[in-house]
Amino acid sequence: MRSQGIFQTAFATLMTAGNVLAYNFSSTVPSWCGKPYMNTSPASEPGGEFQFPTPQADPMLYVTIEPQYSIFLENDEGSFIVNAVISHVFGQSYTNVSYDTPGSTTGSPFTTMDFEIYNEETGSLLVSNSVPVNSTGSLFGFSFSSFNPRLAPYAISIYGTSPDGQQSYTASTSIYVLPTRSSGSAVKIDNLFGGCITTNLDTYAGQGFNTINIVPDGGLPDQSYPTASLAQYWDRMDELNLFNIYDMRFAFMNASRISTQVELWKNRTTLLSYYTGDEPDGWQYPLNSTKLAYDQLKELDPYHPVSLVLNCQNFYYTEYSSGADIVFEDAYPVAINATWSVSWDTPCNLTYGDCGCDNCVGELEDVSNRLDDIQHYQANLEGQGSKPTWGVIQAFGEQDYWESIPSPAEVENMMMLAVNHNAKGISYWIYPSTAEVNVESGELGKVFQTEPGLGFLFGTNAIKGLQVAGEPLVDASAWIVGEKMMVGIASEEYVDFSSTVSITLPVAASAINETLFGDSSWTVSGNKLSKAGLKALEVDILVLNLSS
Ligand SMILES: *[C@@H]1O[C@H](CO)[C@@H](O)[C@H](O)[C@H]1NC(C)=O
Ligand SMILES: *[C@@H]1O[C@H](CO)[C@@H](O)[C@H](O)[C@H]1NC(C)=O
Ligand SMILES: *[C@@H]1O[C@H](CO)[C@@H](O)[C@H](O)[C@H]1NC(C)=O
Ligand SMILES: *[C@@H]1O[C@H](CO)[C@@H](O)[C@H](O)[C@H]1NC(C)=O
Ligand SMILES: *[C@@H]1O[C@H](CO)[C@@H](O)[C@H](O)[C@H]1NC(C)=O
Ligand SMILES: *[C@@H]1O[C@H](CO)[C@@H](O)[C@H](O)[C@H]1NC(C)=O
Ligand SMILES: *[C@@H]1O[C@H](CO)[C@@H](O)[C@H](O)[C@H]1NC(C)=O
Ligand SMILES: *[C@@H]1O[C@H](CO)[C@@H](O)[C@H](O)[C@H]1NC(C)=O
Ligand SMILES: *[C@@H]1O[C@H](CO)[C@@H](O)[C@H](O)[C@H]1NC(C)=O
Repeated sequence: MRSQGIFQTAFATLMTAGNVLAYNFSSTVPSWCGKPYMNTSPASEPGGEFQFPTPQADPMLYVTIEPQYSIFLENDEGSFIVNAVISHVFGQSYTNVSYDTPGSTTGSPFTTMDFEIYNEETGSLLVSNSVPVNSTGSLFGFSFSSFNPRLAPYAISIYGTSPDGQQSYTASTSIYVLPTRSSGSAVKIDNLFGGCITTNLDTYAGQGFNTINIVPDGGLPDQSYPTASLAQYWDRMDELNLFNIYDMRFAFMNASRISTQVELWKNRTTLLSYYTGDEPDGWQYPLNSTKLAYDQLKELDPYHPVSLVLNCQNFYYTEYSSGADIVFEDAYPVAINATWSVSWDTPCNLTYGDCGCDNCVGELEDVSNRLDDIQHYQANLEGQGSKPTWGVIQAFGEQDYWESIPSPAEVENMMMLAVNHNAKGISYWIYPSTAEVNVESGELGKVFQTEPGLGFLFGTNAIKGLQVAGEPLVDASAWIVGEKMMVGIASEEYVDFSSTVSITLPVAASAINETLFGDSSWTVSGNKLSKAGLKALEVDILVLNLSS
């Protein structure tokens, strides 16, 4: 069996984007992301803002458990991720003491939590162990002997205590232990670092793209795929090992269409994921629509993750994202007017207007800001782990709000910004773009989907926002795996700078090992990475040696 990470994808075929009559749930005013956008309607509060929990004064111990992978196949090795972090927003009360004997007033610091993990269905003990207080990402293997492989998930609980047994903590999760399949693919999400891992297939990387999303032909009366021609096309994808993100944007709110379509395609070896809502938040689809589709898809086919794209900056994130294993963002900031709607002739602000990029500033950094926002919301949902985030990069223009098509440099810059901000996959709207964009974005994409780049992206999470001195608007992130550190650098300036730029690394490095992309004149000294000058929109990716 071979495992292969998936990184880059291309959305294919053109669909006309546009807004329909929608509402803010209390009126029938045409709106997008809950904001009226026609100059005949007044501004109104969209609602649906993310509610951040209120921090408490006292520390709590926040225990969570997740399976290492979103699914296990019966022949896999099982393992759980256990986190026990000191938190001021979530968790159960924590006092830093464990008494020597019951009733005693002497004790030691409570620095290690003992725990047991159970299969709730059979009562079987799966793991008995301990973790340091305030640790994340501890892995514990377990046996599948108490699990009969099946399509439905199993409930799992963890019970933690202080060494004296006086303080206790619980959390739960569910796991899939699925029968192995003789045909078709199985796609696992690594819950530690967010990579998607497909089983038993090589990846077609000839053009630098390895997955594709075909937008259903909106011309058909029921906006479905023409089944016969898609079957032919998919035969060809199977030959090429080109993975498909199966697009159900027009079908996912109709249970019978979901059933029919999943039955048709679930055994395809190159199915990567189901893609349900295309901007459900922008369209203001019912808040339960994505989760209803998700639950149905999991029953019909738990072998594949479910993804969707969110377009709004802060509009019912909790509800819409509850229907996704993978959350895409699609902030398209290039060549827009972020404050005045060219399509509707109104201002755009927090309560009014549609400028093509919700609550954006109209700069490339809208892409990285949006990923930060989504990750921040997700981290503030109690009991939920992180979800992989993907960036859908603007590769279109000359329509609606977008006056021109991004240049190859702009596309590459947005790709780097997305990856620097922990995107675990990249897509484009829309392929084909211009010839230059197709070729050059594919070149950079290859860096992310082959070794050594992929090993960093799927082997850890980015350390975002490294301090940069000497030049304005430079974004840099680092990934540390073993004795190597990858650094991604993007200058968001549209002009060249000649002053020395210096990046503060999270740890000292001894030498540059390799330039994976861009300029090779960087030098490293301790924890400083420096270079004279940066070209407009320059993107560089380096690998550094950590030991000498
Ligand atoms: C819709 O807009 C109205 C008028 O501003 C507001 O009162 C209402 O709260 C909004 N609806 C939601 C769901 O926020
Ligand atoms: C608990 O107390 C010990 C000893 O003072 C200290 O080392 C440790 O950091 C404390 N842990 C927490 C989570 O406060
Ligand atoms: C817990 O760990 C975090 C992250 O490593 C650290 O910032 C924080 O100071 C730690 N808290 C305690 C009480 O040790
Ligand atoms: C759902 O799809 C089926 C099959 O295409 C169709 O017959 C039915 O009318 C649809 N239901 C709704 C509510 O649109
Ligand atoms: C897919 O595989 C399942 C289980 O092997 C089988 O029951 C079903 O008929 C297959 N569907 C198609 C369309 O081949
Ligand atoms: C989903 O929400 C809609 C309202 O937006 C409601 O009419 C419908 O009953 C809900 N469906 C379920 C299954 O909860
Ligand atoms: C946006 O449009 C307004 C109104 O036409 C104009 O004043 C402003 O300069 C435009 N901004 C950009 C960045 O094009
Ligand atoms: C947004 O613009 C509209 C129209 O000018 C205005 O009525 C509304 O108060 C503005 N909202 C905010 C939050 O500034
Ligand atoms: C880069 O790293 C590889 C793997 O550790 C090593 O074999 C090679 O010698 C290094 N090259 C340089 C120039 O440091």
